[in-house]
Amino acid sequence: MNTDPNFAAAGGRHGDRDQLIEVDDLRTHFFGGAGTIKAVDGVSFSIPRGKTVCVVGESGSGKSITGRSILNQVPRGGRIVSGAIRYRPDPAAASVDLAALDPRGHGMRAIRGAQIGLISQEPMAALSPVHTIGNQMVEVIRLHLKMGKKEAREHAIETLALVGIPRPAERMENYAFQFSGGMRQRVCIALALACRPKLLIADEPTTALDVTTQANILDLLASLQAEFGLSVLFVTHDLGVVAEIADEVVVMYVGRVVEAGDVDTIFHAPVHPYTKALLQSVPRMHGQPTERLAIIDGMVPSRFNRPPGCSFHPRCKEARAGLCDQKDPQPVAIGDGHVASCLLYEGRR
Ligand SMILES: Nc1ncnc2c1ncn2[C@@H]1O[C@H](COP(=O)(O)OP(=O)(O)OP(=O)(O)O)[C@@H](O)[C@H]1O
Ligand SMILES: [Mg+2]
Repeated sequence: MNTDPNFAAAGGRHGDRDQLIEVDDLRTHFFGGAGTIKAVDGVSFSIPRGKTVCVVGESGSGKSITGRSILNQVPRGGRIVSGAIRYRPDPAAASVDLAALDPRGHGMRAIRGAQIGLISQEPMAALSPVHTIGNQMVEVIRLHLKMGKKEAREHAIETLALVGIPRPAERMENYAFQFSGGMRQRVCIALALACRPKLLIADEPTTALDVTTQANILDLLASLQAEFGLSVLFVTHDLGVVAEIADEVVVMYVGRVVEAGDVDTIFHAPVHPYTKALLQSVPRMHGQPTERLAIIDGMVPSRFNRPPGCSFHPRCKEARAGLCDQKDPQPVAIGDGHVASCLLYEGRR
């Protein structure tokens, strides 16, 4: 994570060449009849080269929409309203602001699916039911890598082998439904990696899988990361997974980052009461480290009626009347890449 003490105030260190992506005060809103939903409401964090950043938080906190914003592929009804997503493909390159690109324009289409790949929770939704796996892979490869048919086919087979699909040349002729859940997720990873991206956005890629298959997929991602120097943005509810794979952790609550830092700091020295509550909600039963989060007491506030002050104060055991219910917390750099937005912490400094 960014170690600049001015990180929080500056919303990330502008132009840090070690960062593949710098998300800077990003706002992605949905506009509907009932009002505006601020799904992502001033989010800043960075993704270092070759590292894994895990985004955690309860349902509806804006994790997926943050990922979709980086792909500049926000679902209908929503759009990026402000902020920047600086993408620097390599340290010597100039950065491109993905948020400023036309979502349907040539520039973004050249990056999405080629330099930034996505794997989602439901592989069936990502794969076409009416095209063979081989045809889908060859199409993506030819589109982005300008290979001929034969070369693209070889590249596709090689990629399927890389993700552990047995008899890859034969399986090129199969359709998505002919694969088991775990193998189908491998196919999705192959599709996402076909063009050898710099960043893989993995949105709960193992949630639908059994524990053994989940472990195999996490091992696979780790080995691919080591081989290609990939950065991974991994969205999950599962703190067991975070402990296993994260270098950095971003904790989100109601569209904002409440705390971010390296994995050891977040697990062993968290300062935000929400992070502490999340960690306390992890089931402690031995042998079930990957159980989903238990619910923290209280309700997530309505997306239309954010409470005044800190969004978490109605559920916060440490909230102080006259402060937390009135003032909007700002991100404070605590040290060594550790940032938190908490009025109690601001007060202690
Ligand atoms: N297509 C959409 N149309 C309108 N609002 C949306 C849409 N998608 C998301 N939202 C709003 O944005 C908020 C954040 O959604 P997001 O999908 O990013 O949450 P999440 O953290 O990924 O949750 P989960 O853990 O359940 O996947 C939601 O609470 C919802 O109100
Ligand atoms: Mg989600």
